Amino acid sequence: MKATVDGKARNIKAVWFDDGEVVMIDQRRLPSELVLKRFSGYMEVREAIRNMTVRGAPSIGAAAAYAMCLAALKGCDLKKAADDVKSARPTANDLFYAVDYMAERLSAGEDPVSAADGYARLTIEKCESIGRYGAELIKDGMKLMTHCNAGALATVDVGTALAPMRFAHMQGKKFFVYASETRPRLQGMQLTAWELGQEGIDHAIIPDGASAYYMSKGVDLIIVGADRIAKNGDFANKIGTMDKAIAAKHFGIPFYVAAPVSTFDFKTATGDDIVIEQRAEEEVTEIAGIRIAPAGSKALNPSFDVTPASLVTGFITEKGILRPDEIGRVVG
Ligand code: MRU
Repeated sequence: MKATVDGKARNIKAVWFDDGEVVMIDQRRLPSELVLKRFSGYMEVREAIRNMTVRGAPSIGAAAAYAMCLAALKGCDLKKAADDVKSARPTANDLFYAVDYMAERLSAGEDPVSAADGYARLTIEKCESIGRYGAELIKDGMKLMTHCNAGALATVDVGTALAPMRFAHMQGKKFFVYASETRPRLQGMQLTAWELGQEGIDHAIIPDGASAYYMSKGVDLIIVGADRIAKNGDFANKIGTMDKAIAAKHFGIPFYVAAPVSTFDFKTATGDDIVIEQRAEEEVTEIAGIRIAPAGSKALNPSFDVTPASLVTGFITEKGILRPDEIGRVVG
């Protein structure tokens, strides 16, 4: 992704390995500051996943792969490390997929750094493929909508939901993107808008509650990411995704989910079986650390919701664009 670091414009990634340490962009500080953090122990990387220094399902997966790499380099008990890393957050399938991928490679004797680098590189290649397939859906003059951040920050580089937009933009297509702010952590406003701005893609931030209003005025295509996709096509993504899918069905707007195969979890039969992370009340009751809710009011803060497969037009994957009834045959 394009970013300015130390006053210089350069290409960087959400997470990578350098000189024995895991390096990542502190996504909690964007867009006001671009801060890089370095970690030398696997438990520090686990904490960075937990506290959302790094976030977004495929980036969480890559960070988990590098955490396992550090554990192996330092001679830690790999079974314990795998359990520790997997407990960082409950919903994103890529976290579990990446730890199992690394456990298999390490037990086969592969070098820890090349195994983790290979995992991260594969993630980027999958996103590029998602971008190429998804760009075909985008036509000149379209109005698009997305939610949360499923861009380069969320996927090491390139993105899932934002990948088709990057590719269509590189192909010279002109289109406009509504980016919903994504209460309570504002990934849409702070991260997606930042990425679209870096790329020069025309966009506007909208309050989450304005999504159906803008759909009623004319949205041509909605693309979101996913944290876990069950065998029947129900999928978990950032809270507020299901509201958009329901409104899209009402207005007849195509609704696509962009995700790599590592996000599909065929051990989970339906969306009812997906574990939804519940986060701290303060994320809802406070703004910038200042309580604005009445004293004594409780808040509920589910981080994800589950959208039924019946509301999905298609899944944009590295294997092509699939209807919900095709995923078992192609992905499973
Ligand atoms: O809580 P977050 O910021 O990790 O949630 C991220 C999302 O919900 C993304 O849409 C999803 O992980 C897909 S990222 C390509």
